[in-house]
Amino acid sequence: MQMPDDLPDLSLSENAELVLRKRYVRKGPEGEEMETPQELFWRVAAAIAASETAYEQTPFSQEALARRFYDLMASCRFFPNSPTLMNAGTELGQLAACFVLPVGDSMEEIFDAIKYAALIHKSGGGTGFSFSRLRAADSRVGSTGGVASGPISFLRIFNTATEQVKQGGTRRGANMGILRVDHPDILEFIRVKEREGELNNFNLSVALTEDFMRRVEADAEYPLIAPQSEKEVGRLRAREVFTLLVQKAWESGDPGIIFLDRINRDNPTPQLGDIEATNPCGEQPLLPYEACNLGSINLSRFADAPAQELDWEGLRESVHLAVRFLDNVIDASVYPLPQITDQVKRNRKIGLGIMGWADLLYQLRIAYDSRQALSLGEKVMDFIQKEARSASKDLARERGPFPAYADSVFGKQNLGPYRNATTTTIAPTGTLSILAGCSSGIEPLFALSFVREVMDGERLVETNPIFRQAMEEAGCASQRLLDEVARKGTVRDMELVPDDMRNVFVTAMDIDGEAHLRMQAAFQKYTDNAVSKTVNLPHEATQEDIRHIYWLAYEQGCKGVTVYRDGCKSVQVLSTEESR
Ligand code: CDP
Repeated sequence: MQMPDDLPDLSLSENAELVLRKRYVRKGPEGEEMETPQELFWRVAAAIAASETAYEQTPFSQEALARRFYDLMASCRFFPNSPTLMNAGTELGQLAACFVLPVGDSMEEIFDAIKYAALIHKSGGGTGFSFSRLRAADSRVGSTGGVASGPISFLRIFNTATEQVKQGGTRRGANMGILRVDHPDILEFIRVKEREGELNNFNLSVALTEDFMRRVEADAEYPLIAPQSEKEVGRLRAREVFTLLVQKAWESGDPGIIFLDRINRDNPTPQLGDIEATNPCGEQPLLPYEACNLGSINLSRFADAPAQELDWEGLRESVHLAVRFLDNVIDASVYPLPQITDQVKRNRKIGLGIMGWADLLYQLRIAYDSRQALSLGEKVMDFIQKEARSASKDLARERGPFPAYADSVFGKQNLGPYRNATTTTIAPTGTLSILAGCSSGIEPLFALSFVREVMDGERLVETNPIFRQAMEEAGCASQRLLDEVARKGTVRDMELVPDDMRNVFVTAMDIDGEAHLRMQAAFQKYTDNAVSKTVNLPHEATQEDIRHIYWLAYEQGCKGVTVYRDGCKSVQVLSTEESR
């Protein structure tokens, strides 16, 4: 499709344009840029609109739809996940960010998984694996009479292989490694990241069961089960294991935990098997060989600040268009393995979520750690989930339901038909939020002022624009104030800032762990898949604080938790001047 010459301009910041040029724009053999940012968005819009040709019924002309998709992205109201931006309309054509691969208990299956992961990383996707089916270290190997190496030593091979393959030529592959709490090697797994740098290409999570949690509560033992024989091979005290989990998370942030039974309670297609793992950042539980593409709506573009409201109608329209976009992505994507193509096309999972939540709260002058923020969070996500499902129903009428629908939980309860087995997921939006110029996912801002190291080692101070404008309107945006904000990153205890503003302009470190967790739970209530969130804790946080957060996550219906205690690792991506 020819790019029209009257397309509206992009509303990208300088930083966004830099990132786009460096990581997303198509490059020639000498590394020269082959497209402008505008051409990039048109390439994506046109490729995704072209999927419509597969269907007889469509309410749009291809050109009109491409324009709508273009506008949605160019105005920074919505972005699909990075692989879609990088690869749509290119030869590679792999558009999904999230994959889960099975790891079977044989040499062939283990090394197949390593090879498949390499193919996925090369195409820009991230992989999650459960290692729970592998026999324990030191158990017998039938064919040789020798002993098995166990999941942890294989994890190291996966990690090394990942090191050598760059995702889409731009970033190193990301992985999630999961082990069930009743696997005989669980203690070693919990401790494996004690040494800094160990398994650096993996996030690790322990899969907890409801039965295990009940035994923690009762201070009882629980059985360790050998994966091949399904026989009990030992017992551990649940509370001791839980305490060890808490201790390791306190020391290094790793491993996290996921609540496996709860994830499977929400499995929309249990007839196709159990969910054993999630994607690398934990927000997308998937079946073996399943992939999912994500997309995020930038809520800060829907603030009606003078009315202290959201533009609900605008949001509805964007959600419907975004669902059509993401469903088309499934058809436009070229998956690296036929098993993946089959599994994806059976369920057609998509994950629409949000970013810019903290910005929206700033714009509406609502404190992140307030009841009002929690209830607005629930209201917004309830709205998005309902509208996304309604859009998926509309698509089912046009194109038919997802093929596994009849035997899915929706089919059995006559709830559909839907075009997609899931529609909502809240992603971290690590790079997308930079492109959109907004806060990431549902996270609070890390600081009101960032020190950014630019390429030649120069340091630039960037103050949050909503805060800056609020200070200017209140007549207190003095250089002294801005300098102090740059130094501290937070204004909670700053007398130069009016009281009501101090409460509104809170940052990750001002907010206690419980408020972080309650926000995650509020969004989880209305999200089909899971919610990416880091519960940030101050350096002084105790192990008891982490235990409390874990327990609250369990009680509040979260599907997993990740905590991070400030300064517990020697290398940190973001910092304010004082924490340097
Ligand atoms: O913002 P962007 O679309 O780049 O990604 P994100 O929202 O931060 O992460 C979403 C998902 O993309 C992760 O959970 C991974 O499945 C995948 N990802 C990856 O494979 N490698 C990375 N370096 C970052 C993300």
